[in-house]
Amino acid sequence: MSSLQFLSYFDKDSNTFSYLVWESASKAAVVIDPVLNFDPASGRTSSAAVERIIQDIQAQQLQLNYILETHVHADHLSGAAALKALCGGTVPVGIGDQICRVQQVFGALFALPTLADGKPFDLLLPDDTILPLGDANIRVLHTPGHTPACVSFLIGDLLFVGDTLFMPDYGTARCDFPGGDAATLYRSIQKLFALPDSTRMLMCHDYGAPGRPDVANETSVGEQKSQNIHVGQGRMEADFVTLRTTRDATLSMPKLLLPSVQVNMQAGELPTAEANGIRYLKLPLNQF
Ligand SMILES: [Fe+2]
Repeated sequence: MSSLQFLSYFDKDSNTFSYLVWESASKAAVVIDPVLNFDPASGRTSSAAVERIIQDIQAQQLQLNYILETHVHADHLSGAAALKALCGGTVPVGIGDQICRVQQVFGALFALPTLADGKPFDLLLPDDTILPLGDANIRVLHTPGHTPACVSFLIGDLLFVGDTLFMPDYGTARCDFPGGDAATLYRSIQKLFALPDSTRMLMCHDYGAPGRPDVANETSVGEQKSQNIHVGQGRMEADFVTLRTTRDATLSMPKLLLPSVQVNMQAGELPTAEANGIRYLKLPLNQF
């Protein structure tokens, strides 16, 4: 029986949790959903959050085997490329193989038509892929709905769900981005609910909830099944779709959607510098 350990990192600007997970005997490690710090007002980026993870990798003497993304995030820039570069440039960055669909839609929006084959991600992960992690392994579960390329990662009894589910008192992720679909999300959640109730579930985001000012990032399959305010207590698919789509119609665009998507669909690589040596993000006008 392998033993797993993990550390959580919270980015307060985007309410995102990143994770460093490792198998104790081999010290084989994976980082899930790293964040690149970004101040949109000044255009300044920083790898401070990624450097904190690297400190722990070094302190625990870990061998970083993979950098994995649960999906193309729309609320923060991915730190995957920065982490990869700071670790020598050889650690593969992986994401669900449906990333190509996201690249097709948003590649057209940002006039990057050649971006549709999954590059520059190093690993395009089909459903049910098993990645070895020392004596443990990482099982890739496709969980589309929030986006078409969302995946969850099951490592031992640790389930990293990305934006499939939020804490039980917050519910579920929106499904109104291109390629998102509430019925699809419902079925993905049922797939996770088929895992043992004791499975520990780690969130990608938390914003607190009414009566709960502090952020939290861990629950379980059993708790979600009984207590999730959107899908708990056996809520039926049609009820959920009505609830989700009604709520989505009231939500505004995430502030960092446009910067995030153009960087994150390229594995966190910042746009190529122009002749003056400066990198620019694009801002498509009147498209939403
Ligand atoms: Fe997301």
